[in-house]
Amino acid sequence: MTTDGVGSDRPHPDMSKARLALGDGGPLVVLTGAGMSAESGVPTFRDAQTGLWARHDPAALATPQAWDRDRDSVWAWYRWREHLVGSAEPNAGHLAIARAARDRSVAVVTQNVDDLHERAGSTGVHHLHGSLFAHRCDGCGTPMEVGPAPTAPVERLVPPGCPGCGGRARPGVVWFGEMLPRQPWDAAVAAISAASAVLVVGTSGLVHPAASLPGIAVDLGIPVVEVNPGPSGLAHGVTVHLRDTAAAVLPALLAA
Ligand code: APR
Repeated sequence: MTTDGVGSDRPHPDMSKARLALGDGGPLVVLTGAGMSAESGVPTFRDAQTGLWARHDPAALATPQAWDRDRDSVWAWYRWREHLVGSAEPNAGHLAIARAARDRSVAVVTQNVDDLHERAGSTGVHHLHGSLFAHRCDGCGTPMEVGPAPTAPVERLVPPGCPGCGGRARPGVVWFGEMLPRQPWDAAVAAISAASAVLVVGTSGLVHPAASLPGIAVDLGIPVVEVNPGPSGLAHGVTVHLRDTAAAVLPALLAA
């Protein structure tokens, strides 16, 4: 491999430009979406054929209304996703991001509800859309332990009851129409405002407010590098766009 593609077998024409934009000393923010975990076998949401929302209606599964209408189906579906994500492994992209934190300060801000950044070794990951594994009561909000996820898909599953208020365990993810949790959002804005560069990986840039975060960096004159094999909603203000996948380019992009 050359300096334009250390650790990958594919030299990339814009790699030098992208490495220059990221610099090598100052605080880096890595903002990730579903594409980050695609090469770990976790489906994205909006890919035309394979995306999760191409096969499942988000309104039927990922809204508070769906929960009120058919709690047992929604709970069964999320518990099955927990099992699938739990069986996936971090890919070379996750590992490269974790490794980069040995040489500079790296804050990971993710829209993903999986734990692949953490399992790759990243610490202090800000989960804007919550976590598949952080269940809480749908009544009083108390965190709840719900036992291991089933290892085969089931149509319906009754969520465990809350010992405190009689509510039910719900997935700790942010559904459409819900507010983002305050703490990770504030941490994300603070990290971006103090960053020397921002790296955006594998997000369609369509879901707000997360999609507005790269714009904060652009407005502050902070270089933004994007890794995405497809088009994205972020074209405006991106310094360099590497049209390739996370696992293919991140090891070279983030090599010391
Ligand atoms: N590497 C990098 N990017 C990839 C890869 C890959 N291997 N494969 C696909 N992509 C890109 C696609 O081109 C697309 O732009 O990842 C993006 C995935 O887009 P979405 O499926 O829309 O995912 P995301 O932007 O994370 O969705 C945001 O929407 O449904 C909600 O809450 C859900 O957090 C999610 C939010």
